Amino acid sequence: MSIPVLDPIVGYIDEPVDPGLDLYDEIERLKQEKNALLLAHYYQEPAIQDVADYVGDSLGLSRQAAETDADIILFAGVHFMAETAKILSPEKKVLLPDLNAGCSLADACPADEFAAFKAQYPDHVVISYINCSAATKAQSDIICTSSNAEHIVDQIPEDQPIIFAPDKNLGAYLIKKTGREMVLWDGVCIVHQLFSEQKLVRLKTRYPDAPVLAHPECEENLLKHADYIGSTSGIRRFAVTEPYDTFIIATEEGILHQMQKDSPEKTFIPAPPEGGCACSQCPHMRLNTLEKLYLCLVHEEPEILLDEEIRIQALRPIDRMMEMSVAVL
Ligand code: 13P
Ligand code: SF4
Repeated sequence: MSIPVLDPIVGYIDEPVDPGLDLYDEIERLKQEKNALLLAHYYQEPAIQDVADYVGDSLGLSRQAAETDADIILFAGVHFMAETAKILSPEKKVLLPDLNAGCSLADACPADEFAAFKAQYPDHVVISYINCSAATKAQSDIICTSSNAEHIVDQIPEDQPIIFAPDKNLGAYLIKKTGREMVLWDGVCIVHQLFSEQKLVRLKTRYPDAPVLAHPECEENLLKHADYIGSTSGIRRFAVTEPYDTFIIATEEGILHQMQKDSPEKTFIPAPPEGGCACSQCPHMRLNTLEKLYLCLVHEEPEILLDEEIRIQALRPIDRMMEMSVAVL
């Protein structure tokens, strides 16, 4: 019998998969057999989105993780998302196909450095974007996602100073939208940071009637050209409801898969990044593959495990987010 080996240095099950296997069918079969729920973020490759039980943004995925009665949550996303699922559902086995699937925002905000930063502003309330580690969440007062960030900031009393971490672009966008002063942590998303303003302007000249839909993780020089700014689910909704034929999309291009499925008659053009590359894919999200998902379900590894003290501390600001954003879609 072969022993499942998760090499902690490799971070995923590194085993050959029979190329003749129908991985889609195998994953479906294993999900049923093990009562597993497969959650996928919009930035996953199309084949993974198609085999998932739910595809959504960070808020939707967290809500699913909190509510499910499955025994296993298989998370097709990045590490902070799977950690959030574990924080919310500690009794479930939470699996992440590749532990290397990180996030530049989470990596830019180590908990010890954040603690020292926070200590400089003892009277500030700390709002942290969900794209951070459990240890950083544990030091926060409220978590937010791009869907509910503005709604949450609006509920903070006017005289209460705020620290916002770790995304300085989302923070700058919130300052502009809400008129609130905030102390910002200096982190960026490597994908959204890379969109080229010059190429976007050229694209707009070519498609003058196409609205630009952008994620607030983009820089201000990009956002100023946007007709709509919102989370991935907000961008998806806008494209379904608004009567345009063509849209320019400034976020990770994985979302185009659902948008195209929603509206096959519409055209979606990804905003171009700087440099020669024609793609805007998150290198962390794209570490997940159907093969890794399959092996992860077979061996039930890699599993997300959390220190219980950190989990309880990190749950508090996530619960506050949930309470403060019941009305948010
Ligand atoms: P949302 O899907 O919540 O908009 O977040 C985007 C993102 O960058 C996830 O890593
Ligand atoms: Fe992190 Fe950006 Fe990738 Fe989202 S797209 S996981 S914010 S690096």
